[in-house]
Amino acid sequence: MAKQLRIGMVGYGFMGRTHSNAYRRVPNFFNLEYTPVLKAVCARDAEKAKAFADQWGYESIESDWRKLVERSDIDAIDICTPNNLHKDIALAAAANGKMILCEKPLSMNVAEGEEMCEAVEKAKVLNTVWYNYRRVPAVTYAKQLIDEGKLGRIFHYRANFLQDWTISADLPQGGAALWRLDAAAAGSGVTGDLLAHCIDTAIWLNGGISTVNAMTETFVKERKHTLTGKVEKVGIDDACAFLCRFDNGSLGLFESTRYARGHKALYTFEINGEHASIKWDLHDLHRLQWFDHRTPGPLRAWSSIHVTDGDHPYMDHWWVPGLQIGYEHTFVHQVADFLEGVAKGESTGPTFRDALETQKVCDAVLNSAKEMAWKNI
Ligand SMILES: NC(=O)c1ccc[n+]([C@@H]2O[C@H](COP(=O)([O-])OP(=O)(O)OC[C@H]3O[C@@H](n4cnc5c(N)ncnc54)[C@H](O)[C@@H]3O)[C@@H](O)[C@H]2O)c1
Repeated sequence: MAKQLRIGMVGYGFMGRTHSNAYRRVPNFFNLEYTPVLKAVCARDAEKAKAFADQWGYESIESDWRKLVERSDIDAIDICTPNNLHKDIALAAAANGKMILCEKPLSMNVAEGEEMCEAVEKAKVLNTVWYNYRRVPAVTYAKQLIDEGKLGRIFHYRANFLQDWTISADLPQGGAALWRLDAAAAGSGVTGDLLAHCIDTAIWLNGGISTVNAMTETFVKERKHTLTGKVEKVGIDDACAFLCRFDNGSLGLFESTRYARGHKALYTFEINGEHASIKWDLHDLHRLQWFDHRTPGPLRAWSSIHVTDGDHPYMDHWWVPGLQIGYEHTFVHQVADFLEGVAKGESTGPTFRDALETQKVCDAVLNSAKEMAWKNI
């Protein structure tokens, strides 16, 4: 019988659902030494937490995360709350010797992130941060191609994350559904929410970022705050674009906005190397576009690799070649990798320390925009 990894999850919103789904599905598709057990879900409203627990099969509920992290029948704390709670929950979980799976961005800023890294390292607890796009099979395959040197020297890295849901000036800020618009809960706007994903993938695929130059804009300057009922200044960035240099000498160009009418979650990246280029698009997430200059001239063309074959990353765990999987499976993959790490006594990347690198870039981007200057990481 598999060994148990007893999960206590804080927050039952969007990510609470994706993670719960992943814990439930992983033993059906991956043969692992450990299996997750949904021990408790924590939310401030006990009635709602109970309804969620019944729906997803959690054994119990807590309405205060401080109690959850102290429970002796829990091995790992999963943090699915708004960003302003990540640090306090992580520090308390580490102090109680719990493993931690923390949602992204790691923290509100670098100072908090450093404290969190020190806490998990001092307590020697396994940790990971849910930058789930690393585990889209097409993105993992891109990593393999780059590591095998198939692109040769990399010259350019380009990424976008475009949405359009905050264009209305009547949209309030703050509170349950709209904490992302409230700087006190989110830390930043698109930089920490969306570009953090692009930056994590970029560092993973192309190495460290050394210097950045950014601009940000807040198009709607004041919004009614749901919690105070007053019209208040908006403190988040609605849009951000930045240039950067990578340690390997390549140049980066990143853009994110919630004001690109027509785009819901258009995360794309393109990498141009000496021999070949690759492109990926979240709206078509099972495909990797590939151009290889070494192909004989008349046949040279962009091709579209359907990343669904048994020899593509993760795909031997799912259906038959040609049948695709989706967004929710990236979380199943992260749980599977985390459980494999637990069996070996190792943290699964991105660790808190890896996610701190992304946090450093986010902070540098925001500082660069504020001071209108290049910033070193
Ligand atoms: N990996 C990804 O792709 C991805 C996608 C979306 C969100 N996120 C991250 O996940 C986190 C949560 O985002 P979400 O979209 O699930 O938000 P959400 O608003 O849907 O859910 C947040 C949950 O936290 C709970 N919560 C708030 N304060 C709490 C407290 N004091 N105690 C207990 N529970 C509390 C809320 O009740 C809610 O259930 C954020 O850090 C966000 O950046 C990551």
